[in-house]
Amino acid sequence: MCGVVGYVGDRQAVPILVDGLRRLEYRGYDSAGVAIEGPTSARVVRARGKLAALEERLQTSPAPGTVGIGHTRWATHGKPSDENAHPHTAGGVSVVHNGIIENHLALRERLEAQGRTFESETDTEILAHLVDIEVQAGRDLATAVRAALTQVEGAYALACIAKDQPGVVVAAKLASPMVVGLGEGEQFLASDIPALLAHTREVIFMEDGELAVLTRQGVTLQTLAGELVERPPKTVPWTVQEAEKGGYEHFMLKEIHEQPRAVTDTLAGRFSLERAAVFLDEVTITPDQARAIRRIYVLACGTSWHAGLIGRLLIERFARIPTEVDLAHEFRYRDPIVDEETLVLGISQSGETADTLASLKEAKRRGARVVSIVNVMDASIARMSDDVVYTHAGIEIGVASTKAFTAQLAALALLALHLGRQLGHLDEAATRTQLKSLAVLPGLMQSVIEATDPQTLDLAKKYLKAKNFLFLGRGMNFPIALEGALKLKEISYVHAEGYAAGEMKHGPIALIDEHMPVVVVATQGSHYDKIMGNLQEAKARDGRIIAIGTEGDDRIADIADDVILLPDVDNAYQPLLTVLPLQLFAYHMARLLGTDVDQPRNLAKSVTVE
Ligand code: AGP
Repeated sequence: MCGVVGYVGDRQAVPILVDGLRRLEYRGYDSAGVAIEGPTSARVVRARGKLAALEERLQTSPAPGTVGIGHTRWATHGKPSDENAHPHTAGGVSVVHNGIIENHLALRERLEAQGRTFESETDTEILAHLVDIEVQAGRDLATAVRAALTQVEGAYALACIAKDQPGVVVAAKLASPMVVGLGEGEQFLASDIPALLAHTREVIFMEDGELAVLTRQGVTLQTLAGELVERPPKTVPWTVQEAEKGGYEHFMLKEIHEQPRAVTDTLAGRFSLERAAVFLDEVTITPDQARAIRRIYVLACGTSWHAGLIGRLLIERFARIPTEVDLAHEFRYRDPIVDEETLVLGISQSGETADTLASLKEAKRRGARVVSIVNVMDASIARMSDDVVYTHAGIEIGVASTKAFTAQLAALALLALHLGRQLGHLDEAATRTQLKSLAVLPGLMQSVIEATDPQTLDLAKKYLKAKNFLFLGRGMNFPIALEGALKLKEISYVHAEGYAAGEMKHGPIALIDEHMPVVVVATQGSHYDKIMGNLQEAKARDGRIIAIGTEGDDRIADIADDVILLPDVDNAYQPLLTVLPLQLFAYHMARLLGTDVDQPRNLAKSVTVE
């Protein structure tokens, strides 16, 4: 999941492209490069590693020009290196690409048999050769790109320039995201919105199978068959400031502190306490259709999958519909039992995760109705769904998802209450009780973040040398144990495992000794006595216990080494509080260990390849 940018206008392209790449670097940071249109040929400058390496190289070999393309890479084919860095050039054509060309081996053999030679191990270099062959046959760049793409199988968001056709950038999209930004006498291109906000908020989201031809005069859209496409631009609600750190050291810390607002905005205008009603008009399921739903599948990956696990518990509690949660990449290939009476709920922050997108398309192909919960406006998953519930968390730039997660939990609670009300499982009084609990959550989250930020910093200092962690939880807090472990793993590179606490004695308890910190989410609720039993089992093996408990619980401190106490809320909403100290603990561990908190190694913000 690389980041692609493009520019055509009258301003120097390099500063615009490099700034765009900086705002997309969370998508991949194995190498970066630009190709700038020059009088005789494109000037290509590339560098392995972070964007800073490219900026350094541009100091020594500047690339003047007002038309160009750029790329920041997350390596799939060919290791991170200067040779494998994009742009790739063949003849007079330079290409940048996000995606995977699945038939690249066969195409490479054919091209080598035609005498073409390759400098890199990448699948992308093939695109440059295919387009160059068409250009050398006298076709204009758009026609050449269309002809080349008829030979390609796989996913792509690409941009290219050609020396013989100055002032033109051509982009194409299939499965990977691409957005065009409209300016006055200049046009912009990017894999994602943050790269455009400094220049325009007027955007066109490219659809699968579309080409965009960018010139100073404007942008034309066409299909791969060459038919013109008309589509009005949309105005993006986000500001460039939102894409800044706002005085925080890291985007992740900023986004952790933005969670009360993210949940407030996600709930805003979607319920009324007076009328004990939930307003999810964007979900167009009628009461009859709701009654016809025999089964719900929740499909997602990573942190969104953890939200899905909590979503199941909320839907089964409030709407009483049998719900299963699947990892999208497993669901897609297991021949699932899906039909017209199946509702499939997709959860994705980016709305571009290839595994989730493909699994939802498969479910739709089998007759299911698809509802999705997405944070990025008009993302691919949102566009292919029958209904979409947007979380309003704002741009999430830190690779480790935080505010999108709690916003997803708020949206899932609304959806469960909405279905429960529609199906008559919740009467007015019961609905009002739940909505009252929801309404006070942002305030409670604010106080928890303020209280536990310094506490978790102290804990991180105490446990900094630990090499392994276990996270335990039950019921609503089992997925939170998984999420706590994932956050620690992905940003601090410390090994951690989340477990359903009841599973401990079936194996993992063997891991516990005086070197193993065990984080136990043991808040009040139906599981309290059981989880306290598990906490004592771990203590009996000399485990070092960090317990997340409920204010007023004076029993827990007798057993645990360290305790964080949280306000008491209905079990259904505890995850919106219990996850906060775990996010902060992971953040402080990573910061003290000196890892790259916002751009952890080997990761990317949205995984747009399978
Ligand atoms: C979470 O911190 C990770 N960035 C990752 O697990 C992420 O949740 C997963 O890739 C799903 O992304 P999505 O929500 O954008 O679909």
